[in-house]
Amino acid sequence: MKKEFLAALACLFLLSPMAAQEAPIRISTHETDLILTVAPNGRLYQSYLGKRLAHEADLAHLSRHTEVYPGSGAEDYFEPTLAVTHTDGNPTTILSYLSSNTRKVDDNVTETLVFLKDKVYPVEVTLHYVAYGKENIIKAWSEIKHHEKKPVDIWRYASNMLYFERASYYLTEFSGDWAKEVRMSTQELQFGKKIIDTKLGSRAAMHTYPFFELGLDGPPREDSGDVLLGTIGWTGNFQFTFEVDNNGDLRLLSGINPYASTYQLKPDEVFTTPEFIFTLSDSGRGKASRNIHDWAREYQLKDGKGDRLTLLNNWEATGFNFDEQKLEELMKEAKTLGVDMFLLDDGWFANKYPRANDRAGLGDWDVTRTKLPNGVPHLVKAAKEAGVKFGIWIEPEMVNPKSELFEKHPDWVIHQPNREAYYFRNQLVLDLSNPQVQDYVFGIVDKLMTENPDLAYFKWDCNSPITNIYSPYLKEKQNHLYIDHVRGVYKVFERVKNKYPNLPMMLCSGGGARCDYEALKYFTEFWCSDNTDPVERLYIQWGFSQFFPTKSMSAHVTSWNKKTSIKFRTDVAMMCKLGFDISLKEMDEKEQTYCRQAVAHYNRLKDVILNGDFYRLVSPYETNHTAVMHANRNQSKAVLYVYDIYPRYGEKLLPVKLQGLDASKTYKVEEINLLPETRSRLQSNGKTYTGDYLMKVGLPVFSTASTNSRIIELTQQ
Ligand code: DGJ
Repeated sequence: MKKEFLAALACLFLLSPMAAQEAPIRISTHETDLILTVAPNGRLYQSYLGKRLAHEADLAHLSRHTEVYPGSGAEDYFEPTLAVTHTDGNPTTILSYLSSNTRKVDDNVTETLVFLKDKVYPVEVTLHYVAYGKENIIKAWSEIKHHEKKPVDIWRYASNMLYFERASYYLTEFSGDWAKEVRMSTQELQFGKKIIDTKLGSRAAMHTYPFFELGLDGPPREDSGDVLLGTIGWTGNFQFTFEVDNNGDLRLLSGINPYASTYQLKPDEVFTTPEFIFTLSDSGRGKASRNIHDWAREYQLKDGKGDRLTLLNNWEATGFNFDEQKLEELMKEAKTLGVDMFLLDDGWFANKYPRANDRAGLGDWDVTRTKLPNGVPHLVKAAKEAGVKFGIWIEPEMVNPKSELFEKHPDWVIHQPNREAYYFRNQLVLDLSNPQVQDYVFGIVDKLMTENPDLAYFKWDCNSPITNIYSPYLKEKQNHLYIDHVRGVYKVFERVKNKYPNLPMMLCSGGGARCDYEALKYFTEFWCSDNTDPVERLYIQWGFSQFFPTKSMSAHVTSWNKKTSIKFRTDVAMMCKLGFDISLKEMDEKEQTYCRQAVAHYNRLKDVILNGDFYRLVSPYETNHTAVMHANRNQSKAVLYVYDIYPRYGEKLLPVKLQGLDASKTYKVEEINLLPETRSRLQSNGKTYTGDYLMKVGLPVFSTASTNSRIIELTQQ
């Protein structure tokens, strides 16, 4: 390093404020404080993360714990947040505090920036914290840059690290696979590391999800105890590291998974990490979930506060086997059902290699003329004539090797130049690190929208992880592929959102393998699972509801598990964003009437269902039943959803205690969604009760019948 440079560095450091005199940095919501302090050695430490402190003066009593953003090669022997191999080969980085500032974004939101710098190497990190007061959410991420002469290798780049000093730590993780999404399991964390990560590239959440719950001093419970809910906004390889250290304290690092992704950072280039979003609740995971739901609807989810379209999809009803006539019949059925839209799924495109199954055609987005001779415009028109909107499925990031696109542009595809290809669902992933490919993918949506301005909805699928990891575009920078690919995906999402800001879109990934809060900036909802067996769905919806508002969770009534009644299947989908994927021909008259009435109830109660507070009352993991409810903000209306799964003979049935009501108000109880010609058998049906009674004593709504359900409307009198 040049002498002048060292002198300039020293000067900069001397001119910076005396670290030891710095006041603590306070990142606060209405309920939580995260306090950082600068030590006499000029380094930044976490002093507190917990319930908001009432007196500013008490901050001075806090002791220092672990460094906020430890670099590799220092005196900390645990997992670093940042690791850089400098141009001289030195792998150590030690960050000192430079300055910080906090600004009020508005009455609810504050943003804090903390600037850190290595005294010896010109490496800088800016820590970002955005605190949402009312929703009790903190979003944290980092920016890394350097001014060395040549690119440096960065091989750890966490978004954030949090530190906990508690008696015990319990992790609830969410694992799964196709049709087995978000299975919840809890374990106590002991000394050492537990890592939750994915290396799938795209369809990244197929086996594990980008969120977790951390019970502090005990396992997470629904309505009591301290619990942190954390999630990362990254639609690719992510990693959460939970490390219990030699003192029994826990370090929690969140970020992009650095696996095969040592990043060559050019001088002055800024490496921005994804956002880690968390909430700390002192009254269990139920409250924490509602915090995230509120925040998502207000700030993150595309059109978070807006309406949602009910729909009839054709995937389960027809698969690839349809023609114009069949689709037109389904459009009429959509109208008969009373839903807003018909959604055409996979199988409508490609000519040289028509998409008659999943082995060909992906990539060729022209309508199959032999199958749909009048093209998409005709379908949009036919839907309009039937009285419903028209939506369409695409999977634009993927390609079948049997396609014209692959024949023309093999260089646009992630695949090995020198090995036999491995295919996941007979397809490969397009190389979105390549700007030309980004243009192409954006062009698919743009062309469809330009030719069909009345297209009302897109279902955007992504069925394959990245396989055959090699980018023809990145050449010798293969280590950038996992990261630059995701950044390329976001560039496309951004362009679509900018040009079509009001277009509702469903994020789908071979079921529910894409569900993170960065992608959901661009999508109004996501597909939870191809598993629409209502029994399974009760668990899947319970799992996803931990992090997502039910208005973002698409749930369709299908013929999976036909042993259950159409009422049970519909009542299960009813708590989320309701859709159907079944032909009316599969139902008798009464069932059709029931479905029509259910859609009408759903439309009438949409405001409570889509925008109300969500309470999980009885867990399917703990009992043979489950119950959840929505209550609107002014506590005048609520919907209670009750399900008996497979109860035991003669088992003891407990009343369900409601939540979210006003204790001093009186509510009328009415069972809705009844099959035609049946009456409610609920003793409480038609009666009125105080909110106090409903929440303290509850209603006897469970039964010992298998796969039985009840939807109950509560109205303030
Ligand atoms: C996977 C999705 O999860 C399904 O809903 C369906 O769209 C198929 N892909 C179509 O190939």
